[in-house]
Amino acid sequence: MKNGLTTTTIRTMADVWEAYRDELEGVEDQVRKNVDSTVALVNTVAAHILSSGGKRIRPLLLLLCARLCGYTAKDDLILGSLVEFIHTATLLHDDVVDDADLRRGRRTARKVWGNQISILVGDYLYSKAICKIVGFQNQGINEVLSEACRKMAEGEVLQLYYNGNPLITESEYLRIVEHKTAGLIAASCRIGAIVGEAPFEQQAALFRFGQHIGIAFQLADDTLDYVANGDRLGKTLGQDLRQGRATLPLLHLLQHCSAEDKQMIKDRMETRTLNEADLLRLLSLMKDYGSIVYAMERAREFVVAAKRDLVSFEDTPPKRALSVVADYMVNRDR
Ligand code: IPE
Ligand code: IPE
Ligand code: MG
Ligand code: MG
Repeated sequence: MKNGLTTTTIRTMADVWEAYRDELEGVEDQVRKNVDSTVALVNTVAAHILSSGGKRIRPLLLLLCARLCGYTAKDDLILGSLVEFIHTATLLHDDVVDDADLRRGRRTARKVWGNQISILVGDYLYSKAICKIVGFQNQGINEVLSEACRKMAEGEVLQLYYNGNPLITESEYLRIVEHKTAGLIAASCRIGAIVGEAPFEQQAALFRFGQHIGIAFQLADDTLDYVANGDRLGKTLGQDLRQGRATLPLLHLLQHCSAEDKQMIKDRMETRTLNEADLLRLLSLMKDYGSIVYAMERAREFVVAAKRDLVSFEDTPPKRALSVVADYMVNRDR
């Protein structure tokens, strides 16, 4: 067992980071190594976002799934860095779509260099990841990843389609979440299983695990958009409503609050304005009506489902780590 790692030594996220520190450093090396454009501005913009302290959840999941399936070489670190490139590309695009000014506590690339550069460097990171991934000549990985990219684009478009609409149903909302966020997280898990040459049923189980924690992850993100400490989150609070987007806590509130408050919310969604006082008012309403608790309970249900997806795997350190990561999806503060 790696470095005397046992299931009992992995209880918290700090234990997971520590236990897989060398592997995660390997991912960082790959991230740095693969930003190698001959166009200096591309490297500058890519480095701005890549070096700003992302959580690296997707590479971590990929490597844990690979290790769970018995993999011991280093391709999972390279693949993890490439999945992180794809994730980063979606953030560069997403910040343009969402008019975001802050990401990971830094001014967004679009704020520093403009929307055009942000989109194009996003395209560069997407393409760079694809160029490297096809080099693995693994049809399974190609299919899983291209499918995830298709779904992410569809999810973001579907979300835009519903912008400004307070009547979106919870199931349509979950469909967006499953497409825009869970798809890439699930793909990361499945790629780990493919690298570990796991049988098809185990690949499918880890894919489902990723889908479940991916949904939980976005439900938590949508709740943090209201309740987080802004400095810690590194993003502007209230940005979802400011974009006219009704996410789960708001959907719950809309179903339970007074007609007057409902009108106020609809007005803010329509005008795409939300000041500090509005945000505080919303937060207090959400607390009164149990909307935050409701959204986090729903998120936790997906974590429970995710853990059930792991039952057929032996109790090993990577399995314990995956279970801790599943909890972290909803316990995190950034
Ligand atoms: C942000 O993802 C986008 C969502 C899917 C909510 P992360 O929360 O993983 O972002 P970083 O990489 O840690 O900044
Ligand atoms: C982003 O969702 C999902 C993708 C990047 C595909 P959000 O818009 O909620 O993510 P943040 O809050 O900007 O990180
Ligand atoms: Mg966004
Ligand atoms: Mg968000």
